[in-house]
Amino acid sequence: EAVELGGFESYMLKEIHEQPTALRATLAEYLGPEGEVDLSPAGLSLADVGRVVVVACGTAYHAGLLGKTYIERLAGLPVEVSVASEYRYSDPLGDERTLVVAISQSGETIDTLAAVEAARGFGGKVLAITNTRGSLITREADAVLLTGAGPEIGVAATKTFLTQISALQALALALAAARKTLPEDELLRLGRGLRRLPERVEEALGLAEPAAWKAAGLFEEARCALFLGRGPAYPVALEGALKLKEISYLPAEGYPAGEMKHGPIALVDERCPVVAVIGEGLLREKTLSNIEETVARGAPVVAVADPGDRQARRVSRLLLPVPGDDGLLGPYLWTVPLQLLAYHVARARGLDVDKPRNLAKSVTVE
Ligand code: G6P
Repeated sequence: EAVELGGFESYMLKEIHEQPTALRATLAEYLGPEGEVDLSPAGLSLADVGRVVVVACGTAYHAGLLGKTYIERLAGLPVEVSVASEYRYSDPLGDERTLVVAISQSGETIDTLAAVEAARGFGGKVLAITNTRGSLITREADAVLLTGAGPEIGVAATKTFLTQISALQALALALAAARKTLPEDELLRLGRGLRRLPERVEEALGLAEPAAWKAAGLFEEARCALFLGRGPAYPVALEGALKLKEISYLPAEGYPAGEMKHGPIALVDERCPVVAVIGEGLLREKTLSNIEETVARGAPVVAVADPGDRQARRVSRLLLPVPGDDGLLGPYLWTVPLQLLAYHVARARGLDVDKPRNLAKSVTVE
């Protein structure tokens, strides 16, 4: 193999641990030492953007959902996020002030390329976020934000996901600067916060092991799993569920915690563990009360929360500890233990985590 395992037992585990390095390399391109954002290496003009549409597949789609949170919150622009295979056939609406952000690790996913073409129909400007220099999407796009994750061999995306979110967050800051939606010093403060991300993810990795391994024990007899979150914790729950089903073959659903009572709660019993991404702020209390409803129905609950969170400890069988954050870095930190949880569940089942059955690293035919 051209890329060495370097002492790890799988590429997936190696790539999970490479996330701080991958983020450092990605952010170095777009963030100055004082936290100033500069997207000029992407060749992008943001002056006239009126609306943003994100198109992507799989894990990249989940990154897009987080991008929506960042762009709407920081730059006050409306963002629509679409699965590329739906978008391409939807006769999409837009105009030349629509920025179409196409996210694709490989840059070769057929549906994402077709979605870009569909956006051309209404004159949208296309920004590609990809990990692959010279890929097809870089030739189709008006501008390119490269992520610096390096080659990803594991079929289930890990390090490319975090780098995609970081590129989207840099884009949100650049849009906020162009639109003057935030004061300069606030923008710099957020930029400096983003610069600290690689260290925070390192911390998250340190905290997650061996808790993730222990939490995997709760899945021994499981027949399904439910991942819950609200706000920015919801896309993280979707990604956690996707990782688990991709490599362990356990049916897993990611759901907005508040929507649980409209269906998924029917699944819940002692053989359907609930993984709750608690998050922060107002929604935290609401998520906690959703969890209590699942506890009452016998679910073993794994809470992704700050180790000092006494309420989260009280409602859960096990806590996956994550470092506290300033509000914008949470999604990265909550993702790390979920990647490791999926990894350990699959390993305990004796499965090949790097090459799960039926899946391809890049889907180039429809
Ligand atoms: C496949 C891979 C996923 C990936 C998706 C999109 O399904 O197995 O890990 O998220 O394609 O790939 P892309 O290269 O467009 O990001």
